[in-house]
Amino acid sequence: MSDKQHSIIGAGVPRIDGPDKLAGRANYAADNLPADMAYGYGVFSTIAKGKVARIKVDEAKRMPGVIDIFHHGHFPSLYRTPSSFAQGNKVEETRLPFEDERVYYEGQFVALVVADSFENARAAARHVEVEYASESAVANLAQGLDDNGTQAGSGNHSRGDASGAFEDAAASIDVTYHTPVETHNPMEMHASVAYWDAQGNLTIYDASQGVVVERNALSKIFAIAPERITVHAPYIGSGFGSKLWTWPHAVATAAVAREVGRPVQLVVPRQQMFTTTGHRPETRQRMRLATDANGRLVSLRHESINTTSFTDQYVETCGSVTKSLYSCPNLTVSHATTQVNRGTPTSMRAPGAAPGLFALESAIDEMALAAGVDPVQFRLDNYAERDESQDLDFSSNHIVEATNRAAETFGWADRNPRIGSMREGREIIGYGMAACNWEALKRPCDARVSLRADGTAFASCATQDIGTGTYTIVAQAVSDVTGIPIDRITVKLGDSSYPDGPISGGSWATATTLPAIAGAARNALDEMKRYATGDNGVFAGASSDELDVVDGGLRNAGGKQASFAEVLDAARYGSADGEAHTEAADSQYSYRSFGAHFVEVRWDPGISHLRVSRVVSAIDVGRVINETTARNQVEGAVVMGIGMGLFEATEYDERNGRPVNNDYAEYVVPVHADQPEIDVILLDYPDLAFNEYGARGIGEIGITGLAAAIGNAVHHATGKRIRELPITLDKLM
Ligand code: MOS
Repeated sequence: MSDKQHSIIGAGVPRIDGPDKLAGRANYAADNLPADMAYGYGVFSTIAKGKVARIKVDEAKRMPGVIDIFHHGHFPSLYRTPSSFAQGNKVEETRLPFEDERVYYEGQFVALVVADSFENARAAARHVEVEYASESAVANLAQGLDDNGTQAGSGNHSRGDASGAFEDAAASIDVTYHTPVETHNPMEMHASVAYWDAQGNLTIYDASQGVVVERNALSKIFAIAPERITVHAPYIGSGFGSKLWTWPHAVATAAVAREVGRPVQLVVPRQQMFTTTGHRPETRQRMRLATDANGRLVSLRHESINTTSFTDQYVETCGSVTKSLYSCPNLTVSHATTQVNRGTPTSMRAPGAAPGLFALESAIDEMALAAGVDPVQFRLDNYAERDESQDLDFSSNHIVEATNRAAETFGWADRNPRIGSMREGREIIGYGMAACNWEALKRPCDARVSLRADGTAFASCATQDIGTGTYTIVAQAVSDVTGIPIDRITVKLGDSSYPDGPISGGSWATATTLPAIAGAARNALDEMKRYATGDNGVFAGASSDELDVVDGGLRNAGGKQASFAEVLDAARYGSADGEAHTEAADSQYSYRSFGAHFVEVRWDPGISHLRVSRVVSAIDVGRVINETTARNQVEGAVVMGIGMGLFEATEYDERNGRPVNNDYAEYVVPVHADQPEIDVILLDYPDLAFNEYGARGIGEIGITGLAAAIGNAVHHATGKRIRELPITLDKLM
């Protein structure tokens, strides 16, 4: 690829789906209204543990518009999916809806009303009478440890002799951090619209970050071939991980649509998005760190316990980054779970790393202070040249430059390290920083590209655009390879009938999808050249390798040029098509992204007001494909990190396990008034060992470390070390 062709890669191309979204033409799951559609509304458990003893539906059934009411005594029998990530049929809650009378969490589906309107379904749902045999619920992590102790987790690691080295060290700390449940609150609520045709084929519109995996999971659950299921998710009002895997409401909607013989729509109420569609679990993390007399880490132990449900084990791998971020010969990382009466947790933006780096990067700050070293210098002193956990080189690691550039832009050199010493008017200013880190993954992918006789191009892949810009970067890749301008490229995603693409998660959609798209575009060009050089071709008799691709056409060495439209017209073909399959990344290197956050907080003790006033983040994610959407991802992640640091926590009543702040009013997320100045520095070093674009993905890294940087700044301002998120005002007074 020439430099000229590469100019669109990296450019801040505006989102190509933007106009449709702004004009209301973008259809989200619940916008689909097939003819004769009925509406579902759930009845949700009001206890967190026990059984449905009796369920009375007679009165509700007689209410206006009610078609049927489903519950564990009246529901089709389904099959469990093996829930295998490798097989691509994973779900997070493996229990089938209405499988039995057991209740495992408050807000679990216990009945589902289907009626002719949303209002009628909801009204009838309120008249379904459920009698429970309630048992004492396990309401939080501490109660879980008392009730069932811990179960061993996964992702553990050990090297050297961490406890021996700890005993002999010059300085050490032993501290425990706690992070609460956080609930995903995308603007678009979970919703499903499902219908079956006369041949028994299922179509479902679902708010999904993974249409292929959902198709495969539903194929297991309904025991029909995957080819007979189509999952559509052309637009998603974000998901943050809660829409990665299929949840009970989607299964239930598909099942009841078959029973009533009509399309059924079900929207999950915001309250149940706090119960039945996953959450980031509560964690307790014990950190033991020790240094030698020179401030070098000699021992690091990260022991994490997270809450999981009684139906499934979800491990929050808090130590995933700890294994490789710093050089340390003696290190152990362990993960365990404890069961509580909550729904099954799931990935939330940077699962593992987000709570894990709160603990690690706060502890590193504490260790630096204990060792008497500036926190930036401490990190640079303990820089890991290679991935010591896998004994592999990093493919590309610019964390030192990221740290130094962010420090300089932020003005770290002006920091007076004495606590509370930096003041402006009534406010005390705190400076804090933390590293950020995320793995880079690339999964197998298929894609298709057609170059059409009207001069347009069409690209398709069964991945999704969850608002991050995937449509746009796919168009950029097609334009890059073919020279066709962006406005003549149509990109189709979010449909499981397209070639299999990745989930929109793990920050791997870009690195996974673009090489497959580029490969398909090149294969389409090869077909174009065969047409051009064939019997009726514009360049009949020439050989394909004599032809260059120039500006959406072909040119020979003599300077004769023909557009793709002219080539196809002459050869009498409607399009030149290409498909490609690309493989997962190899394991030659440790592929990771790196960065550093620098945060300024302002604490006004007179009125007990804390705010984040300035953030500088330098991020090393390989090549940036789209300057605008990449910057948006980091800015959005920083905002979400401020939420994690200062506001977000789902509170459960310790007496009964019920989430109490289960709405937008009381589950506090940052609003515009909370936004600081955010300065994002994108390093842009292509990681060509990882894929041909050198891109590692950017969705998650920005939230990692941010809460720790806030906590470290709060400590600098106030002298208080808050080890339990969120850092609310009561903890500072
Ligand atoms: Mo992300 S938590 O992989 O949607």
